[in-house]
Amino acid sequence: MQQTRVVQLEEGKENGTMVRTGQYKSFPPKLLLLLGFFLAFAVTVFIISVSTIKYSGIQSVVTTVTSSFVPCREEESSGLSRWIQPPMVLMHNMSDEELLWRASLWPRRKEYPFNRVPKIAFMFLTKGPLPLASLWERFLKGHKGLYSVYIHPHPSFTAKFPVNSVFHERQIPSQVAEWGRMSMCDAEKRLLANALLDISNERFVLVSESCIPLFNFTTIYSYLIKSKHSFMGAFDDLGPFGRGRYSQNMEPEVPITKWRKGSQWFEINRDLAATIVEDTLYYPKFKEFCRPACYVDEHYFPTMLTIEKPAVLANRSLTWVDWSRGGPHPATFGRSDITEKFFERIFDGRNCPYNDGNTSMCYLFARKFAPSTLEPLLHIAHKVLGF
Ligand SMILES: *[C@@H]1O[C@H](CO)[C@@H](O)[C@H](O)[C@H]1NC(C)=O
Ligand SMILES: *[C@@H]1O[C@H](CO)[C@@H](O)[C@H](O)[C@H]1NC(C)=O
Ligand SMILES: *[C@@H]1O[C@H](CO)[C@@H](O)[C@H](O)[C@H]1NC(C)=O
Ligand SMILES: *[C@@H]1O[C@H](CO)[C@@H](O)[C@H](O)[C@H]1NC(C)=O
Repeated sequence: MQQTRVVQLEEGKENGTMVRTGQYKSFPPKLLLLLGFFLAFAVTVFIISVSTIKYSGIQSVVTTVTSSFVPCREEESSGLSRWIQPPMVLMHNMSDEELLWRASLWPRRKEYPFNRVPKIAFMFLTKGPLPLASLWERFLKGHKGLYSVYIHPHPSFTAKFPVNSVFHERQIPSQVAEWGRMSMCDAEKRLLANALLDISNERFVLVSESCIPLFNFTTIYSYLIKSKHSFMGAFDDLGPFGRGRYSQNMEPEVPITKWRKGSQWFEINRDLAATIVEDTLYYPKFKEFCRPACYVDEHYFPTMLTIEKPAVLANRSLTWVDWSRGGPHPATFGRSDITEKFFERIFDGRNCPYNDGNTSMCYLFARKFAPSTLEPLLHIAHKVLGF
């Protein structure tokens, strides 16, 4: 088929030349001579090329030679793959400003010109090691291509995981993050921005080293991908720990009626992640006027998104946590807490709105679990958590 196409093309060329020679008949003899040479040259080239193509032996040689150049050409011509391949190496030397700018470039067309399989980005905001890593490994096993992992530890920490681990080389450039301070939001933004660089990431889950998944991957994946809403805790707390932390200096960008409070452990879609990363309007207000005892990581994102994208918010968090023991921090569970009865408490049949109906699955993740829970968790996971 290729042969005929080449021949047709050559014929077309020759027809063109012949028409032109016809027109040139009345031209001076010198020019005519020149044209004659040209015609002879063209015919020779035509004959040689046709016979070369027909001669299959040479054709295969030509193909081999061409194919050896292909990888080089692909790199240079950089087709669409350049834009849809996630970064091979997560470590980079972009400053935050550069990274946030880079991450806020996104397509404005809704349809993708390729088969985009949406992924869930699990973003681990940690102090250092991941003591529950093997539970997450088991959870993610067999679902390659449907998730990606990012780790933001204390900058002095270097995560070392074996090549076959889902955590292998998934650490991003990090900086110190302090609880209740803007540096915590900066770290979360850094995670979002790095995860946005992979165009297939569609849902972004913030977790810590003490978080665990409560269902198998298939269940969590479909819950998140099918959800019309994003899960950001956001409620209007009229008391001293809610509106009491508001500063009128934030007006007019942030009116008190839109002031919200919520847990920092969010789950948001790509559009909201982009909204957070691109923000330069609310950031300075929160940085300047929400300082302890205004804990900015509880207010910045919930308030900002309530102003910008309220309809997409579920206003609830998917991460279960136990405040019943009182104090400034939620309960941390240890080895002896991990029983079937304990999980019954978490799964306790309440109803939560989900899309246009209700679901008994109010939480997909839970915290805080001490390193000592790993062994009993691995033991009980198959029966209680389904993986
Ligand atoms: C990153 O590295 C390049 C060269 O390797 C350098 O030109 C650039 O200034 C560096 N950027 C930062 C933010 O350090
Ligand atoms: C995941 O859990 C759901 C619900 O418990 C179950 O129906 C499904 O078979 C499980 N999937 C896998 C791959 O184990
Ligand atoms: C969440 O709250 C916003 C306003 O704060 C509201 O517009 C939105 O409908 C709420 N989401 C749901 C699912 O009720
Ligand atoms: C969801 O539950 C609420 C009460 O918990 C109920 O009023 C509502 O009718 C339920 N919605 C659906 C669609 O079942």
